Amino acid sequence: MANKETVLVSGGAGYIGTHTAVALVEAGYDVVIIDNFSNSEPSAVEGVEKILGRKVAFEKVDTCDKDALRKVFEKYPFNTVIHFAAYKAVGESMAEPLKYYQNNLVSFMNIVEMMKEFNRPNILFSSSATVYGDAEKLPVTETTPRQPATSPYGNTKQIAEDILRDCCRAYEGLYGIALRYFNPIGAHPSALIGELPRGVPNNLIPFVTQTAAGIRPMLSVFGSDYNTPDGTCLRDYIDVVDLAKAHVAAVNRMTGHKMEQKYEIFNVGTGTPLSVLELITRFETANDLKLPYKIVDRRPGDVPAVWADTALANEVLGWKAERDIDDTLRASWAWEKHVRGIK
Ligand code: UD1
Repeated sequence: MANKETVLVSGGAGYIGTHTAVALVEAGYDVVIIDNFSNSEPSAVEGVEKILGRKVAFEKVDTCDKDALRKVFEKYPFNTVIHFAAYKAVGESMAEPLKYYQNNLVSFMNIVEMMKEFNRPNILFSSSATVYGDAEKLPVTETTPRQPATSPYGNTKQIAEDILRDCCRAYEGLYGIALRYFNPIGAHPSALIGELPRGVPNNLIPFVTQTAAGIRPMLSVFGSDYNTPDGTCLRDYIDVVDLAKAHVAAVNRMTGHKMEQKYEIFNVGTGTPLSVLELITRFETANDLKLPYKIVDRRPGDVPAVWADTALANEVLGWKAERDIDDTLRASWAWEKHVRGIK
C-alpha cells in the first residue's frame, strides 16, 4: 500500500492493544508497539505476529519513563498515537489510588508532551463508559453528563479526557479522539490473542470462562434485586475485534484530516443491553456447557444499567458493531481453552 502511515500503540501487548494492532496492520497501517509488560506477556506480541504472519516493531518501554519514550519518538516516524497503557483494576485503584494517579496520568501526560515536542498531531485515548457513572437517562450519548467518578481508576479516565480536551484546545497542531468503551469481551477468532487477567479476574467474562475451565468452582452473580427486567445489571458487551475496528475508523478520521473539532468523543458499544443472567445463558448455549453460579450480594460501586447510544460512531466514524454475541462468547471460551491447553 502506498503511503503507509505508522501508528504508535502504547500498551500494545494488552487485551485491546493487541487486537487493535492486528486491525491496524490489516487496514494497511504500520504499527510500533510499546509495552512494559506490567500486565501482559511477550507471548501477546508473538500472537499478533502469528496472526499477521510478519514481525511488528516492538520496544519494551514504560510510558512513565519520559527519556525512554523520547527515544521511541526519535526512532519512529508515526503521526498517530493510540494510548492504551494504563492500570485498569477498579478495586485495586481504591486500595492504591496513588499508584493509579501516578501511572495513568503521568504516562498520558508524557505521551502528550512528547507529541508536542516532536510535532506529532493525532492522539487517540482509551476512555471508558465508567465516566457516565449511574446515568439519569439511558442509553447514554456522548453529551450525557459525566457523573463524579466512584473510583480512582474512573477518575483517571475523566481527568485524562479533560487534559486531552485542554491540550487540543491550547496546542495548534494537536488533535484528539477519546473512545469511551463499554464492556469489551471476546477474543480474536484465531484464539491466538485474548484477555490475560492476572490472579482472580474482576470482570465478568474472564470469571465465566475460568469457571467453565474448572479454575473457579462457582461464578457469583452480584445482585439480583436491581430495578431491571430480571433483577441483574444491564451492560453493553462489545466484541474486542469490533472495538479494534472502531480504533481503525478513528485513526482513518484523524489521518484523513476529517475531524470537525480538535477533540472528539465517541461511544463504542453495541447499543444493546444484556443482563448478567442473559449473558450466562447465552454463554452456556453458545458453548454447549453448564456454568455453576449463585446469586450473591451486590458489588459495591456497580451501576444498575448502562448502555450506549452508538449513533455518533455509526454516522461519523462509519463504524458499527457487527459480530454476533454467540460468536463472541464462543471466541471467549476458545481463548480460555487455548490458554489452559484444554481440547
Ligand atoms: C468494570 C469497571 C469499569 C471498567 C470495566 C473495564 C467497576 C465498577 N467498573 O465495568 O470501570 O471500565 O470494568 O472492563 O468495576 N459481575 C458478576 N460477577 C462477577 C463479575 C461481574 O455478576 O464475577 C457483574 C457485575 O456486577 C456487572 C457485570 O457483571 O453487572 C459486568 O461486570 P464487569 O465485567 O466487572 O464490568 P463493569 O463493572 O461493568
